[in-house]
Amino acid sequence: MIKIAILASGSGSNAENIAQYFSTHKNVKITYILSNKKDAFVLERAKKLKIKSKVFSNKEMKEQVELLNLLKVEADFIILAGFLLKVPENIIEAFPNKIINIHPALLPNYGGKGMYGMHVHRAVKENNEKETGITIHYVNENYDEGAIIFQAKAALTKDDTPETIAEKIHLLEQEHFPRVIDEVINS
Ligand code: GRF
Repeated sequence: MIKIAILASGSGSNAENIAQYFSTHKNVKITYILSNKKDAFVLERAKKLKIKSKVFSNKEMKEQVELLNLLKVEADFIILAGFLLKVPENIIEAFPNKIINIHPALLPNYGGKGMYGMHVHRAVKENNEKETGITIHYVNENYDEGAIIFQAKAALTKDDTPETIAEKIHLLEQEHFPRVIDEVINS
């Protein structure tokens, strides 16, 4: 069995979609959903999905080895699904090319510190972009700069708002993220 741990800070729609996709998979198991936010909705989803979950404060994530030790036992791959904290360096070192993130824009555009969630979609709208998309990439020590694995695009019109852009991105994420993870870990 290939073990996956998901790290998420928010609603967790991607985490749930990934968990559902792999629930019947022959050689992949989601072992844990881990969060740095004790009130994140993703924890409710974990309960419903009967997946173990655990919360680490930002300080615990940064300064302690407990999370690293748990991941060493419970994960072959780590998936970041709306995880807003920088991944601690000791974890990046222990999991080279085994940490995968999804970013709601076409990197290298609209990446970097502060570029998450609606901030991204508002910036895309302000610049009157004709298209946006998703980027699935490996995680290294810099925000949003690891090697790109996959991108998918969505066309935009002048009528799009940050909210409709978010919906388009959400559809792309639901369609592609689990499948791309499956391809990477089984290749
Ligand atoms: C997604 O848009 C993802 O691309 C980004 O954060 C959002 C998380 O949404 N990194 P959810 O928590 O999976 O619903």
